[in-house]
Amino acid sequence: MTDADTLTLRRPDDWHVHLRDGPMLDFAADLTARQFARAIVMPNLVPPVTTVAAATAYRERIFAALPAGRDFTPLMTAYLTDEIDPDEVETGFKSGVFTACKLYPAGATTNSASGVTDVRHIYGVLERMQAIGMLLLVHGEVVSPDIDIFDREAVFLERVLGPVLADFPALKVVLEHITTEDSVSFIEAAGSNLAATITAHHLRIDRNAMFEGGLRPHAYCLPVAKRRRHRQSLRKAAVSGNPKFFLGTDSAPHPRHEKESACGCAGIFSAPVALESYAQTFDEEGALDRLEAFASEFGPRFYGLPLNDGQVTLRREAQTVPDVVGSEDLDLVPFHAGETLSWRYVEADG
Ligand code: NCD
Ligand code: ZN
Repeated sequence: MTDADTLTLRRPDDWHVHLRDGPMLDFAADLTARQFARAIVMPNLVPPVTTVAAATAYRERIFAALPAGRDFTPLMTAYLTDEIDPDEVETGFKSGVFTACKLYPAGATTNSASGVTDVRHIYGVLERMQAIGMLLLVHGEVVSPDIDIFDREAVFLERVLGPVLADFPALKVVLEHITTEDSVSFIEAAGSNLAATITAHHLRIDRNAMFEGGLRPHAYCLPVAKRRRHRQSLRKAAVSGNPKFFLGTDSAPHPRHEKESACGCAGIFSAPVALESYAQTFDEEGALDRLEAFASEFGPRFYGLPLNDGQVTLRREAQTVPDVVGSEDLDLVPFHAGETLSWRYVEADG
């Protein structure tokens, strides 16, 4: 339902999020769980989540970090390495522990050092995943030092994703956090086994945000934001009603001092205002009536999971996002810090 001041949606899911571990998990987990019924939880911990036992234990830590009674399902992912055993992946999938596998090209992003050095090394696992109907989630950037950072996603399509899709025509793949019009066109042209997530921040910032009046570490994430025309293409895709594009925040918290550093970490922490941020974009595009499908329907349909019951509500009400959240020991700068958003998420009772 949509009237001028209230937006009611079927409970949405976040198809890509970093909940972290330890004190950060204790802080971050509920910020996602209060807005989303389920989330695909990224496995790039130290050490990475590469076994069924590690994923089971991590899932327990997530539940332990949530307030009692919170209705939230973390969907766990396996971190693919050159050595990962197809049997381990299949066991995890069949026992309901792993929902999907995550491909990080080695060196592409935070905690990706154990990632895949050449996609051919995991062809055995991909074969198995294709056979059992398990999804592959992809961080789509090449890491060769000769490729400009702004071109890494486009080159990945040509060098890695294209060949993988050709070699595994029935494998279901999600190209995560897309940032370019090249990816939008690639997804549109591909078969129904390829979809993409779009973050809240890539719908709002372009690469200039990192240099606005000085160096802005809180606008730095991977894949890095691109030119304005790419952002425009992402906005068009998100509101298009094409079921191949759905919500994945890539909310990626880092302690403030690790962002505001001579070698700052990549990641934008959008979980505190994720739905509000998407609502703002869809509103600006005159497409609030398309938000529910993007946030709550296209993702589960692609994953072959049921749609959620229940609803969430956003109210049209100005809210100024805090400059800093967390505690003295763990302070974080959220996405939209200091800005005023025109929607507010209304926490459900009970
Ligand atoms: C993520 C992180 O910090 O874990 N960072 C980011 O900029 N998105 C990793 C990732 O998803 O690339
Ligand atoms: Zn991520």
